[in-house]
Amino acid sequence: MKTILTGIRANSELTLGNYLGALLPMVRLANKHSKEMNVNIFVPDLHSIIADIDGNLQQNIVRTIKYYLAAGLEVNDNVHIYRQSYVPAHSELCWILNCVATMGETSRMTQYKEKSEGRESCNVGIFDYPVLMAADILLYSAEYVPIGEDQFQHIELTRNLATRFNNKYGEIFVVPVKTDEQVKFMGIDDGIRIRDLLNPEKKMSKSTLAENSKIMLDDAPEKAAKKIMSATTDSLGKVKFDMFNQPGISNLLTIEALVTDTPLQDVISTWAGETRYGELKKKVASSVSTMLADFQAHLETIDDKMVFELFESGEKYANDIATKKLFEVQKAVGLR
Ligand code: TYM
Repeated sequence: MKTILTGIRANSELTLGNYLGALLPMVRLANKHSKEMNVNIFVPDLHSIIADIDGNLQQNIVRTIKYYLAAGLEVNDNVHIYRQSYVPAHSELCWILNCVATMGETSRMTQYKEKSEGRESCNVGIFDYPVLMAADILLYSAEYVPIGEDQFQHIELTRNLATRFNNKYGEIFVVPVKTDEQVKFMGIDDGIRIRDLLNPEKKMSKSTLAENSKIMLDDAPEKAAKKIMSATTDSLGKVKFDMFNQPGISNLLTIEALVTDTPLQDVISTWAGETRYGELKKKVASSVSTMLADFQAHLETIDDKMVFELFESGEKYANDIATKKLFEVQKAVGLR
């Protein structure tokens, strides 16, 4: 059986960007394919500690899984939910891959450059986190990895490391599919990048300080609607999907398409030429607030116990698969 795999760090409350870029696509794919594919959803808790944690890491980890359930994830025997640090093979494979990766390629990662920029010192975890991410994927032979566009470079790195390793030691790893095929598998035309509402040239990020620039999943629906109404647009006065000249408007169209599960092209043609930006904003504000209200109501019904039961079976499964793959790797390298 093929495997779909993804993870979201548990540093803080999640944004609408995390939700629309990774969580919801994963839930939709899982519900579509989990009869014939393995669906691995894990919390990269080791990746979380590369940066400050808002609140309590243990609670954030449990909350992250509750979010998948609140977004409609249907669990069956092929859906495996686990915590990264409960599967020691991730760290061990990361070390072996560290000896395959080059300083040059890891230094070129945009996320590393952005996260280390302007800091006097940067922890080694920030530098090395794409290699750990490669280990997360390769241990389970996952071909499909639904993620937002900002993580695409890490998929390419994973592909390069797997191919280099296989060339040197034999066909051990399944190489995940290229990012354009990942996008096709997700049923969209391009990678998803939800923009900052006030500065739409940038991606929406939990670390941005301005409150109105991002929607958090625990925002009251009315508050989220207000943030959409105050989103930066442009002075061109006509709705057009044009990320370069009209990034704010294009962002709103993208959000509307994803939240209402409508093909982007349909949303674009519905709104093309509209001169009252306020009308578009009202519609998007209403779609987002309805989505949040449903999501938050569903969240209330999920308790910690459900999540810990999922961890128990998921971690058994994950350790079994990951330990076997690690052993193959150790043998190939000569460590066993
Ligand atoms: P993280 O925790 O930074 O982000 C989680 C997911 O949310 C997506 N995302 C966005 N998508 C669209 N628009 C945005 N504004 C936006 N902001 C965030 C990210 O692309 C990501 O998919 N390294 C990963 C976690 C990870 C992982 C893995 C993912 C570790 N191992 C293995 C997949 C497979 C990360 O830091 O994501």
